[in-house]
Amino acid sequence: MATADQVKALVRSHADGDDTQFYSVAMQVAARAARSGQGRFGQELKQLIDEVRKRQPTTRGKLVPVTQPRGELAGLLSAAYPSTRLADMVLEPHVCERLNRVITEQRQQDQLSAHGFTPLRRLLLIGPPGTGKTMTAGALAGELNLPLFMIRLDGLITKFMGETAAKLRLVFDALSETRGVYLFDEVDALAGERARSNDVGEIRRVLNSFLQFLEQDQSESLLVAGTNHPQLLDRAMFRRFDEVIEYPLPSPEIVREIVRNRLAVVKLARIVWGQVASAAEGLSHAEITLAAERAAKDAILNGRGAVTTHALVVALRERQSEPS
Ligand SMILES: Nc1ncnc2c1ncn2[C@@H]1O[C@H](COP(=O)(O)OP(=O)(O)OP(=O)(O)O)[C@@H](O)[C@H]1O
Ligand SMILES: [Mg+2]
Repeated sequence: MATADQVKALVRSHADGDDTQFYSVAMQVAARAARSGQGRFGQELKQLIDEVRKRQPTTRGKLVPVTQPRGELAGLLSAAYPSTRLADMVLEPHVCERLNRVITEQRQQDQLSAHGFTPLRRLLLIGPPGTGKTMTAGALAGELNLPLFMIRLDGLITKFMGETAAKLRLVFDALSETRGVYLFDEVDALAGERARSNDVGEIRRVLNSFLQFLEQDQSESLLVAGTNHPQLLDRAMFRRFDEVIEYPLPSPEIVREIVRNRLAVVKLARIVWGQVASAAEGLSHAEITLAAERAAKDAILNGRGAVTTHALVVALRERQSEPS
């Protein structure tokens, strides 16, 4: 149940019209309930908060032009309102620290700009598939209560070959018009090496415009770019980001945390973590999450009650043999 302080904070934030604080406290109540054996209530409350938040786009600033995009922007951006938080992610301490720094600077941006500083806002996330780059963009949006806009660069380029630069300008205009987290996924699609030979000139031009827009962009939006192929990126690209953050494959400690987190709602037998970590070697956060889910479902459906080391190892091995 909620503590007395939480109830007071709810009333106070309601009176202040501070939605962010109100939902944040409500989420704390849900988390506390989940921890103290009221899993069902915790879950229902979290769902309710997520639903209500989605219904209130008007409190999130000027969204209408992009969420109901008219004209060309419609095909370039998709909007979402993630409720993901950083705490939902399992991250290496150095990644977590840097993301927290970005969030702090964003939250205190008025204070920074009063002194002539701009908050960190252009991030390049590098790492193998399934390590949480896309999820990070969602978590930043969730933490900052901003909409998440996804731009598929590879789609953009193939779809609009010949006019990509003009389309990119529209996207960068949107950055200034509507504050949000803008995710440029697979930014390596702009690297010349990946182009078919007859496209090289066009891709070069697009890359140059991208770099130029990136440099000129003075908006208050966050720009997050992700790639699995940093070696394909132009050096000029790296220079234009405030932070380049590497997402490594999970260490044994991280493996343990991912499994524990995912299996928080089911019973765990005494787990031999060393065996689990060896079976997980080389797998991504995403694959380990899926394997943990698989083991949990098996335990539930077979009526065994608890997830065992053996079940986890089998599920992880299965993922090892699947092409990713
Ligand atoms: N660090 C993490 N913590 C918790 N869950 C994670 C993490 N990374 C990945 N996952 C899980 O894996 C899913 C896929 O991850 P995500 O799409 O963020 O990977 P990605 O790094 O963007 O991969 P890609 O390079 O293929 O785009 C997430 O939705 C989440 O369920
Ligand atoms: Mg991704």
